[in-house]
Amino acid sequence: MSKKIVVLISGNGSNLQAVIDACEANKINGDVVAVISNKPDVYGLERATSHNITASVVNHKSYDSREEYDVQLKLEIDKHQPDLVVLAGFMRILTPQFVEHYEGRMLNIHPSLLPKYQGLNTHQRAIDAGDDVHGVSVHFVTAELDGGPVILQAKVPVFPEDNCDDLSARVHEQEHRIYPLVVNWFCDNRLSMQTVNNQLVALLDDNILDVTGYAS
Ligand code: GAR
Repeated sequence: MSKKIVVLISGNGSNLQAVIDACEANKINGDVVAVISNKPDVYGLERATSHNITASVVNHKSYDSREEYDVQLKLEIDKHQPDLVVLAGFMRILTPQFVEHYEGRMLNIHPSLLPKYQGLNTHQRAIDAGDDVHGVSVHFVTAELDGGPVILQAKVPVFPEDNCDDLSARVHEQEHRIYPLVVNWFCDNRLSMQTVNNQLVALLDDNILDVTGYAS
């Protein structure tokens, strides 16, 4: 059966677009049923409405605490009874209660080769460190920020003349390839997160994935 996907965004939503396009092209056995942003007036909301997808805002500025915000966000998400929650540039730290509620059914994309460069400014940090390889990771979300089991990574070269925008653009191109692919694995019931030998791992077709994901 086709899976129901809710996508959370904070901005431009180019990864959201990649997922919507893949759903519409039947490359994902699912549908984006709702898009929720923590910020009003972001372009990703327009992308949703132009595809007749319900778009809403749960503005973090309207809540006094992270806990209160996450409770409201959860209510908004669960209206749609999703099989999968996809974080696509959703720039919020999530409470453990929220993460636990969606355990094993929430994915994130992070612009670095995790476990390198958790947090912000990943492209500049890769340049400053003199890395010649950078990239992107799709992972299950756990209570540890950018720390859940990695499912798939894509690598890109870093050239000496690169600035942050060059590198970001190169990484984005790969993001748009790998995120729909992983979402489709989930929607096809091929992907899960489980505890094996006291360790949380990602499994694809019942095979435990390496710590750097499928393509390693
Ligand atoms: C993407 O590069 C994504 O990897 C990053 O935000 C960008 C959103 O772009 N996510 C994070 O940094 C999460 N920690 P988009 O709005 O165009 O999809």
